[in-house]
Amino acid sequence: MNKEYVLITGATSGIGYELMLLFAKNKYNLLLVSRNKEKLKNIKTKIEKKYKIHIEYLDIDLSESDSAEKVYYFITNNKLNISILINNSGFGLKGKFEENDLQKYEEMVNLNILTLTKLTYLVLQDMKKRKKGKILNLASVAAFLPGPYMSVYFATKAYVLSFSEALFFENSADNITITALCPGSTKTNFASVAGFKSKDSFNKNAMSASQVALIGYKGLMKGKRVVIAGGLNNFSVFFIKFIPNRLIGKMILRFNNSSSAN
Ligand SMILES: NC(=O)c1ccc[n+]([C@@H]2O[C@H](COP(=O)([O-])OP(=O)(O)OC[C@H]3O[C@@H](n4cnc5c(N)ncnc54)[C@H](OP(=O)(O)O)[C@@H]3O)[C@@H](O)[C@H]2O)c1
Repeated sequence: MNKEYVLITGATSGIGYELMLLFAKNKYNLLLVSRNKEKLKNIKTKIEKKYKIHIEYLDIDLSESDSAEKVYYFITNNKLNISILINNSGFGLKGKFEENDLQKYEEMVNLNILTLTKLTYLVLQDMKKRKKGKILNLASVAAFLPGPYMSVYFATKAYVLSFSEALFFENSADNITITALCPGSTKTNFASVAGFKSKDSFNKNAMSASQVALIGYKGLMKGKRVVIAGGLNNFSVFFIKFIPNRLIGKMILRFNNSSSAN
């Protein structure tokens, strides 16, 4: 029988790295996928030895539209059995919609939506045959909100949440769970990649990546549908239901704008 593996995209930093550590500590074999070959190689050397597990890795740009097929080819070619899929890779971009580079939006939509959807599709086929599997998709608290000055990013996360919840209901009878993890601001490379010049207001109340990963890990293992990370984020998501979007939009506009002003 093929060995079981956890496939994690974006395991070289932030939330994905912390999720990788949790699975390694719990003795899961890992398939790690992201762009930085050197970092992937170092993780393999360090973590395999420390936790006595097996790690495969694939360095690939998941914003390329055929990258999910390439990852799946690697899986079948190496006869890996993916029991858990973590679609974590993603990035955001702040600024006025029409002033940003269109190419960046294409990469974001490809990475945050297209590759996530295709990888889920491909891996789910095998999970269905085995009638067993778990999928964790990185959405965000942003999924519940309009996102002025981060319009495309917020919209990609709304897609991830909607898609994941629909699949949860489609697959629960087959012993396959799909969990959407919704963090709020988290201290990772995300803010600098997204173009926040000062991390101060972004990092105000931000959680650590290890806290978020642990909440996501537990929620995934329990087969939860939606997991919102942290008390404050849970409180916010509950209360925004009672606040009209015209006010929420203005608040987000100020937050996303003020975060770059200093
Ligand atoms: N941090 C937050 O405040 C926050 C809040 C809500 C949701 N999230 C979501 O959480 C997820 C993880 O983000 P993070 O905060 O941990 O950010 P991060 O520290 O920037 O990590 C992003 C990871 O994704 C990988 N990645 C980025 N672009 C890629 C590409 N084109 N192809 C393959 N891999 C790529 C990176 O690895 P390489 O550079 O090696 O490719 C890295 O391992 C994202 O989906 C993000 O949207 C973050």
